[in-house]
Amino acid sequence: MIKIQNLYKVFKTESGHFKALEDVSLHVEAEDIYGIIGMSGAGKSTLVRCINLLEEPTYGEIVIEGQCIFRKMRKKAEEAEDPQENVRLTGSDLLALRREIGMIFQTPNLLMQRNVERNIAFPLEVAGVPKEKIQTRVAELMDLVSISEKAHNYPSQLSGGQRQRVSIARALANTPKILLCDEPTSALDSLTTNQILDLLWDINQKLRVTIIMITHEIEIVKKICNKVAVIDQTRIVEQGEIGQVLLNPGKEITRQLLRGTRGNYA
Ligand SMILES: Nc1ncnc2c1ncn2[C@@H]1O[C@H](COP(=O)(O)OP(=O)(O)O)[C@@H](O)[C@H]1O
Ligand SMILES: [Mg+2]
Repeated sequence: MIKIQNLYKVFKTESGHFKALEDVSLHVEAEDIYGIIGMSGAGKSTLVRCINLLEEPTYGEIVIEGQCIFRKMRKKAEEAEDPQENVRLTGSDLLALRREIGMIFQTPNLLMQRNVERNIAFPLEVAGVPKEKIQTRVAELMDLVSISEKAHNYPSQLSGGQRQRVSIARALANTPKILLCDEPTSALDSLTTNQILDLLWDINQKLRVTIIMITHEIEIVKKICNKVAVIDQTRIVEQGEIGQVLLNPGKEITRQLLRGTRGNYA
């Protein structure tokens, strides 16, 4: 479903070059709920933003459902670059890709001037879906995320959890195959977090959507993920089936993340 090979991301900043990702390879299969866990600053958001090309990778290859969306090989100094082998989706191909990939964030960036219904309708309007179809689809989506009662509320009249439900519905509007989740519950209390995780689990089961779940909390990985990759300072240091990684953590960083769940920070 998603194959990332030897991905590098180097930010050019005023103070020089900053490496955010180094040699990241990841293979996500259809219908996985793939957790990517790491400390703050590890490179999680950068990685997930490369998947829909919100961030331009520096080197590496990304293939989604058999389609190469980005390829630029890292060359040794003596090797010439061959522009022929570079790939980077643009224009309508990029738009089509973005429709296949929904995304939700820690803070749902809802449109404040639109009510729930019209926030969810927005991506459908942009995609040029006819009005009658939008209505049925929005009703369906509101039902899916259990927000129908608040159809006419504005974002300022919703709780954090309700706002996240709206953003999930909006991300699913164009029936994407992949949902990227960048710490979607980090701003929520534990009860609401569990409700949102249950919803994402249901969505994975019912709609067969592949989910990538970025988090710094191992509890979240334990609750819904079937696979996990641990990212530490730009690199993936461990990855695999959830049981295997959690029962037999090979790296100190994984053990630290595991200890964190017992409140044992001391
Ligand atoms: N646009 C950017 N320019 C320069 N550095 C950046 C930029 N975006 C992120 N970084 C840096 O890359 C590193 C990884 O960031 P990020 O992917 O947001 O980490 P995480 O999501 O794991 O907390 C951080 O050190 C961050 O400061
Ligand atoms: Mg982040």
